[in-house]
Amino acid sequence: MRAIDLQSAVLGWYDDNARDLPWRQAGTDPWAVLVSEVMLQQTPVARVLPAYRAWLQRWPSAPVLAAAPVAEVIRQWGRLGYPRRAIRLHQTATVVTADHGGRLPEDYDALRRLPGVGEYTAAAVSVFAFGSRLAVLDTNVRRVLGRAIRGEAFPPLRLTDAERAAATALLPAEAETAARWSVAVMELGALVCTARRPSCHACPVVAGCAWEAAGTPGADDRPLRRQPYPGTDRQCRGVILAQLRETDTPIPTADAAPGWPAVQRARALDSLVADGLVASTPDGRLLTLP
Ligand code: ADE
Repeated sequence: MRAIDLQSAVLGWYDDNARDLPWRQAGTDPWAVLVSEVMLQQTPVARVLPAYRAWLQRWPSAPVLAAAPVAEVIRQWGRLGYPRRAIRLHQTATVVTADHGGRLPEDYDALRRLPGVGEYTAAAVSVFAFGSRLAVLDTNVRRVLGRAIRGEAFPPLRLTDAERAAATALLPAEAETAARWSVAVMELGALVCTARRPSCHACPVVAGCAWEAAGTPGADDRPLRRQPYPGTDRQCRGVILAQLRETDTPIPTADAAPGWPAVQRARALDSLVADGLVASTPDGRLLTLP
């Protein structure tokens, strides 16, 4: 399939099928775009939507977030999961306020230097908020391009230079169209070209898809990405954080995650403290949010 045909098929499909998500509205503040991308990294859209609205209502810009106590930031993150993201967002707000006059920098390299802003997030903000012409390679985009072009069911575990080069070569010439192309490919991956059980019958590029032409080899190869949650250290961390979110009173360390095995409680607590999500008194007897 020629690049131009791939582009017009995907862009046309997006015109008709895009979800109306708040961070995609024209004129969305760059800070709000960053908040959305950080939340969407590891949390599904349906759970992000209410959290995104509530967060921005409370802290609409970097300077107001920077001024908030870390404990409140952790409380507001609530049950979105992977709460280190909340700490990093707060750190980013602090850096943006101190070093960039309270506004996110437009430049990809400056964005990349912010705490917790990786290659994907820097590109996404640079493109969706500031209109740069860059490839935006999240797992959905990588899977769609890998299937359509290389005929592979799943992309490599780590992003490769070959993938970057192929995605950059496919970008439409005009920056605005390139940005729309990136979000359109992402949406195709989220709604049609899904990791498991893709809806190839509904795909706008099925006729030119290398993977479809090869008979969709390896469709069931990839094991479930997420480890089961119950009984994991991650769940134990969640239990302890939920206890601390609910009170301003320090809780005895001995009361953290009641019923959990002692080794697991200790491991969860150590990692929460190391991540800056929990503080303990010097004698180690009491716990609070930082
Ligand atoms: N629109 C822009 N970025 C997005 C993302 N990461 N997930 C879903 N929709 C998006």
